[in-house]
Amino acid sequence: MNKTPSLTTEFKQNVRKNLMTATIKATENKKLALPPGIKRYGLQAIFNLIFRPIPTLERYRDRYGDIYYSPSFAGFPPFIIIGNSEGVESLFTADPDLFETGSSNKAIQPLLGDQSILQLDGEPHKKRRKLLMPSFHGQRLQSYGEIITNITQSIIDRWQKDDIFLMREAAQEITLSVILQAVFGINEGNKYQQLRQQLTRYLDLFNSPVYTTTLFIPALQKNWGKWSPWGNFIYQRDQVYELLSQEIDKRGTATEGEDILSLLLSVTDEQGEHLSKNEVMGELMTMLFAGHETTSSALAWAFYWLHFHPSIYHNLKDELDTINVDSDPMEIAKLPYLSAVVSETLRIYPIALFAFNRTLKTSWEFMGYSLEKGMSLGPCISLVHHHPDIYPNSKEFKPERFLERQFSPYEFIPFGGSNRRCLGYALALYEMKLVLATVLKQVNLKLVNSQPILPVRRGFTTSPQGGVKMQII
Ligand code: HEM
Repeated sequence: MNKTPSLTTEFKQNVRKNLMTATIKATENKKLALPPGIKRYGLQAIFNLIFRPIPTLERYRDRYGDIYYSPSFAGFPPFIIIGNSEGVESLFTADPDLFETGSSNKAIQPLLGDQSILQLDGEPHKKRRKLLMPSFHGQRLQSYGEIITNITQSIIDRWQKDDIFLMREAAQEITLSVILQAVFGINEGNKYQQLRQQLTRYLDLFNSPVYTTTLFIPALQKNWGKWSPWGNFIYQRDQVYELLSQEIDKRGTATEGEDILSLLLSVTDEQGEHLSKNEVMGELMTMLFAGHETTSSALAWAFYWLHFHPSIYHNLKDELDTINVDSDPMEIAKLPYLSAVVSETLRIYPIALFAFNRTLKTSWEFMGYSLEKGMSLGPCISLVHHHPDIYPNSKEFKPERFLERQFSPYEFIPFGGSNRRCLGYALALYEMKLVLATVLKQVNLKLVNSQPILPVRRGFTTSPQGGVKMQII
């Protein structure tokens, strides 16, 4: 009887075949320009990549191996998809000056302008990272602890028994407030509320895959007035810029205050020039864009997984019983099981399926392939996080794997790596842990629906379908 090989067997055979081919080619010193891969995407494939990206990426991986070629589609350039830790290590340990990364992020220019850190490369990128980094680490990060727990507490205080709500929306409220208050230093008041509402409206626009697609297809970027999609986007963006502009004018060239807005306003270049208002606004928008939706989706997932697996929930509750609500936030952040739950949440359905594409500025030998200048490489976080050699039974939510083993920075990559590693990773982890601990210590929740929730694309990121409906019990 013919036995169909299991996906894992087929996958392993393909990987072995690929690696062998690459090694033989490399040994013979024959130039193998590209890894195996897709020749051309049909309409169905494009639809699948946009609306069902995870199974689609996995199907191609099973067919072509861990490292495969993806031709251009829907405004994306051709690139090489990297789905194993060896490939990621080779990329993340290479000289960052080999690549342009900012240019791969051009699609978001209409959102953030062209001076955001996401779009910078080389020396300007290095300088901007150095400027922003202290706001997310060390003492500064520690000082956000109280703000995060206070914001979470104020939301819990509004909840009533039997209330039903979407966890992603509650988490969004928290993460937006944290960025505005802790990172920007913009506090309560009329302007703050106005800015919050306007920002929510604006950021929500790009949560639909259809809307995001317009960013990749310039032909769709036509302003037919406020009622057309692009016209509405321009209108909402101008409203946000106006409010931010007022906040910037109010501060002047503030030198006191350690928040990012004060930093951006006070910094000068060698000629003593301040950043332009557009540059400052671009950077503020970048922090919102990169840090708000990502952290709130991750939080919603964490609440989902904990309530979907009662035994994991109880393990965490036992650990949380060892601390008080008002324990030192840094102590809470060190709790091992809580940390493992957060890591497993970010592993199983990574919020960003890919780290940024790196585009070669020169030809480069990569894993037995001889790549030409201009070729892009895309580290696929989702494929690496489900690699059977690193994570057995990868579709199972199992925080214990992070207690049993330490994963390398090329095996566990929810925040990317090398010179572009997420600037806000420490804040995101800290925030997730403090929100989870603050809520779970005081409120009993349950999932309204017992069916498994799958990830869906929400703009540039993925998030739990339906937003995780929960009830207070
Ligand atoms: C769970 C939450 C988050 C996830 C999963 C996440 C993920 C990522 C990923 C995958 C990258 C690309 C890294 C690479 O290509 O190597 C990135 C970059 C970045 N993230 Fe995050 N992020 C999160 C939260 C945040 C927060 C809270 C902020 C700031 C408030 C932030 C700011 C940034 C910035 C500025 C970059 C660009 C860094 C650069 O180009 O040098 N992120 N993030």
